[in-house]
Amino acid sequence: MITPTIPRPNIHEFDFIIVGSGVAGLFAALHLAEQGEVAVVTKDRLIESNTEYAQGGVAVALDEDDTPQAHAEDTLRAGAGLCDERVVKTLTEEGPAAVEELIRLGMRFDREGGEMVRGREAAHSIRRILHASGDETGHEIERTLSRRAQVHPSIDIFEHTIMTDLLTVEGRCVGLDALDLNQDARVRFLASVTVLASGGLGQLFSVTTNPPVTTGDGMAAAARAGCRLMDMEFIQFHPTALYHEGSPKFLISEAVRGEGAVLRNAAGEAFMARYHEDEDLAPRDVVARAVFREMRRDGREYVDLDFSSIPLESFLSRFPGIVGELQRQGFDIYRERIPVAPAAHYSMAGIVADPNARTDLTGLLAVGECTCMGLHGGNRLASNSILEGLVFGMRVARISPALPKLSYEQLGMAAELAPPPVRVAPPAIRGELQRLMHSHVGLEREKKALREAQEQLAAWTLGIATVPFASREEAESANMVTVARMVVEAALGRTESRGAHYRSDYPERDEAWRRHLTLRMDESKQLVIDTAPVDRPCD
Ligand code: SIN
Repeated sequence: MITPTIPRPNIHEFDFIIVGSGVAGLFAALHLAEQGEVAVVTKDRLIESNTEYAQGGVAVALDEDDTPQAHAEDTLRAGAGLCDERVVKTLTEEGPAAVEELIRLGMRFDREGGEMVRGREAAHSIRRILHASGDETGHEIERTLSRRAQVHPSIDIFEHTIMTDLLTVEGRCVGLDALDLNQDARVRFLASVTVLASGGLGQLFSVTTNPPVTTGDGMAAAARAGCRLMDMEFIQFHPTALYHEGSPKFLISEAVRGEGAVLRNAAGEAFMARYHEDEDLAPRDVVARAVFREMRRDGREYVDLDFSSIPLESFLSRFPGIVGELQRQGFDIYRERIPVAPAAHYSMAGIVADPNARTDLTGLLAVGECTCMGLHGGNRLASNSILEGLVFGMRVARISPALPKLSYEQLGMAAELAPPPVRVAPPAIRGELQRLMHSHVGLEREKKALREAQEQLAAWTLGIATVPFASREEAESANMVTVARMVVEAALGRTESRGAHYRSDYPERDEAWRRHLTLRMDESKQLVIDTAPVDRPCD
């Protein structure tokens, strides 16, 4: 086969490169911009991210009757024994200052009588969820941060530019190669510090609340660069996505149950009482599996969400986004119960990073949903992820002065590197892969189905060519195959049930498995599996 000639990329040099423009990426960008020139590289529009669609809000202990310790205890309880306590404490103790900083940047949370209103969500022992414009919290955060970033003199934003691979020289990250999708041109970004804030992987599944951008790109690129990924088996399913045609599935926030809505089966029974003492506000993994079982028992593809106990006026004002969407979909919210079903929602899985966002590769930091710091354990506590983006986004700026700068020679070598060939998958497999993951690697897993998924993914991996990819679709498909392989490998490896990972052939929790499972890709692209202790897994 003749190797195609690869045009040399255009080269941009910055102090910091950030991949991704959700809350973690933009908050990091705004703080790093106080120290140098920042490039934000994002493959779609600036605001297109999981953050934009977050309804519930920001969990933070700001009230007098709440404490960071109580917030930490709730996080640890939900995390099914796999949270790193040190990281959890960092989140809950630094959370209030990070939220105050967000407010200083212009964020307006909903208030009543001057006080910020606090909502309740599952597995929180107290009302502590801040929200904005009712249920459009993520949108308001993206609006606030993107406006700031757009006018900042030290931030350059590269929209519609997709990272194709990280660049390494002498064992350290020196930047990345990308495709400028507007110009159809290859571009290279060089910097002493590259920050992955590239989000999650919900698009691996055919039923997901996540937007189309969530294809695990940062995780796949970090794996190809030799970083370890961790907890890949822990994918959180949200119990209540609106059941209707089309993907992504519209989320019906947990906050609706926090205000009193109740799940009911075909017989009208409020079934959660049979599954957990906290009923509809049990941890998310428990509710999602209960919904799944009731659906299976009733032979229906959904259960009903009954919000008749919430006074209509407060429902309309508290959840304007949900009401609007339900009405657009033709539901009579005054009379009907709403059909809901679980959907892939959040990845506890990700690139191994310490609480300063350092990964296994010098010069590469990672924050937000693409990472795994051991913060969420086996099951993320609702509304902790925006706080994660804020707290660890800010910490990136704290650690960066201590990181080694690229030498003149290293910069020269980086500029001369040939664009690396990348394995590509034909775009057509995206839908097939999503259906495979949904049916074989979903809420309930077992060995036979996982093995089938493993074989199919191996075939796709073998079948992909080794030329640089030429489009976003090719890049995303290749990344999805890589990350899906890791999810399946980890799901097969963890022979127990814990948090969001449920094996019907190993239905019990096994204390011997109170460890993280890590995966690394070796030079021949084989996955190497290992374990790490619950506390300080990255040390
Ligand atoms: C929700 O609003 O139910 C989602 C909140 C979250 O996933 O943290």
